Amino acid sequence: MALVLGIESSCDETAVALVDSERRIVAQRIASQDAEHAPFGGVVPEIAARAHAERLAPMIEGVLADAGIALADCDAIAATAGPGLIGGVMVGLVSAKALAMATDTPLIAINHLEGHALSPRLADGSIAFPYALLLVSGGHCQILRVDGLGEYRRLATTIDDALGEAFDKTAKILGLGFPGGPAVERVALEGNAKAVPLPRPMVGSGEPHFSFAGLKSAVLRAHESGKYEIADIAASFQQAAVDCVTDRLRIALAGMDDVDTLVVAGGVAANATVRAALEQLAADHGMRFAAPPPKLCTDNAAMIAWAGVERLGQNDPLDISARPRWPL
Ligand code: KG4
Ligand code: ZN
Repeated sequence: MALVLGIESSCDETAVALVDSERRIVAQRIASQDAEHAPFGGVVPEIAARAHAERLAPMIEGVLADAGIALADCDAIAATAGPGLIGGVMVGLVSAKALAMATDTPLIAINHLEGHALSPRLADGSIAFPYALLLVSGGHCQILRVDGLGEYRRLATTIDDALGEAFDKTAKILGLGFPGGPAVERVALEGNAKAVPLPRPMVGSGEPHFSFAGLKSAVLRAHESGKYEIADIAASFQQAAVDCVTDRLRIALAGMDDVDTLVVAGGVAANATVRAALEQLAADHGMRFAAPPPKLCTDNAAMIAWAGVERLGQNDPLDISARPRWPL
């Protein structure tokens, strides 16, 4: 059995986890920076980098102590090396390099998107390649075909905002605070999803790409009209977003006849309405549906450690760079 230490610092969660090759999350800690960024209504890169720098080392010590494990007992140290806010990524990657060098342990530089993409396999060992993946987070909105480790084919992306970004902007417009996704979901529970007529951008297009900027503008106009309740706008937005996602996926799945599993990952995959709609879509296509538990959907280090487990044997050079952009 192998054990990997994972470090995640690409956005506003500082996270450390120990995961073994039997899919056990042996220990993990996550420190959210929501309180630091909330006054600004979004993540401030400089504040994020400083917070990661302050918290990471004590959290690594803490996770090892929680597990009663010495760093030398780890078979590899895996850290997010991009994409993300570069200051934060550097804090995590440089820390991992120092630990790897000091203990002569292999370093594995992980693409954060690969962490999300493989997270369903940490949650459920029966999920095998190939699978269709909807990756929906604050920074990304993609449909991928996952044929194996490192074998990702992107079939669709967004031409403007990511889905999580659309939730965050809607929350901001409606005065629901930050982070926006969970707030919109909570308020939408009290609203009528048919109350506000909102557009479904791209629906009907033959290419499976996404667009959410027009939906966000329509939310702003609906709010400014003064005609609608906040909860009704939130619920109608959420439904419009879900309709866009299922329509786009339907197009993408039409070209993947040999794939029998649909997987969703990334922060927005924590949304119950999104999950329910995808489950139905998968059933309509005779496909199996898999979504990691919500805590593995939003940013965490267990998925980074798990990607490290999948990549065991790799040993990246100590001069490897942090990458603000790094497509899968
Ligand atoms: O994967 P993630 O934690 O970070 C990135 O890599 O971006 O995703 C964060 C995004 C944010 O936009 C957040 O508002 C959204 O995921 N999100 C949600 C929910 N929980 C998080 N969106 C809708 N419903 C949720 N329950
Ligand atoms: Zn993420």
